[in-house]
Amino acid sequence: MKNLQSTVTLSNGEQMPWLGLGVFKMSEGQEVIDSTKAAIRNGYRSIDTAAVYQNEDGVGQAIKASGIPREQLFITTKVWNSDQGYESTLKAFDSSMNKLGLDYLDLYLIHWPVKGKYKETWKALEKLHKDGRVRSIGVSNFQIHHLEDLLADAEIRPVVNQVELHPLLSQVELREYCKSQGIQIEAWSPLAQGKLLDNEVLKAIGAKYGKSTAQVIIRWDLQNEIVTIPKSSKEQRIIENADVFDFELTADEIEQINGLNQNLRVGPDPDNFDF
Ligand SMILES: NC(=O)c1ccc[n+]([C@@H]2O[C@H](COP(=O)([O-])OP(=O)(O)OC[C@H]3O[C@@H](n4cnc5c(N)ncnc54)[C@H](OP(=O)(O)O)[C@@H]3O)[C@@H](O)[C@H]2O)c1
Repeated sequence: MKNLQSTVTLSNGEQMPWLGLGVFKMSEGQEVIDSTKAAIRNGYRSIDTAAVYQNEDGVGQAIKASGIPREQLFITTKVWNSDQGYESTLKAFDSSMNKLGLDYLDLYLIHWPVKGKYKETWKALEKLHKDGRVRSIGVSNFQIHHLEDLLADAEIRPVVNQVELHPLLSQVELREYCKSQGIQIEAWSPLAQGKLLDNEVLKAIGAKYGKSTAQVIIRWDLQNEIVTIPKSSKEQRIIENADVFDFELTADEIEQINGLNQNLRVGPDPDNFDF
């Protein structure tokens, strides 16, 4: 893990950057275009969007304008809950790809484990993978029991599980389970949507290295082999969040950060959501 272009080899052999840009809550149009362009210009190669963010078109425009060869980029999008089911997922995928303007996708995720639906949705993802339209398929917000249920009759195994994960919700058990199943964990809301930035433990560790709390958290992710996608629409922070390859947390500092866990979510609970 040397720089922003360093990748993890997923269990299907594909390469995924350890660090990418999340674009949740960025408005379609100028905001998402400018932020995505800024990220790519500053060395990011992985962008995480979703149909429900309604900004795939802008992400696609920024990719096109970047001039970076397609094969050097890693683009993720997700099928939204109301589109789950076999045929409707295939249709939703086409719609996302039209907006992104891509002829293949790197990673397609089931956004949430919608009860009674996600297995049919998974069959559609398997077909898209077999047809060569998406290189890797995975899930998001799946708990261990959702994964066990899916794996019981999946033909192709998910290679990524993207979940809420930050020092207040360190997801130790899920991380261990995923590791044992060859499923790469990816952290969403790695900065707890800003709630952790004044944390005294993180501030003290950051002061030692001349790094911000955001950088300490991102470094904690990387040293724990967690793929991470902090969101910022400000170029200065996009650069800051990627400036994490020139320091290393000690084992003791990692333990101190592990100690912040409170099993506290800033987002919805995958076992109790109604959307
Ligand atoms: N699969 C899912 O269900 C799911 C759910 C939520 C999120 N996600 C993905 O995960 C990505 C990241 O999560 P998130 O956007 O919820 O939250 P996040 O990355 O934890 O935090 C983003 C917030 O922190 C601020 N910020 C970023 N860098 C900063 C820095 N260096 N210093 C101070 N403030 C900073 C941002 O503000 P500014 O933009 O103003 O800088 C924004 O308010 C999303 O964009 C999305 O791609 C997935």
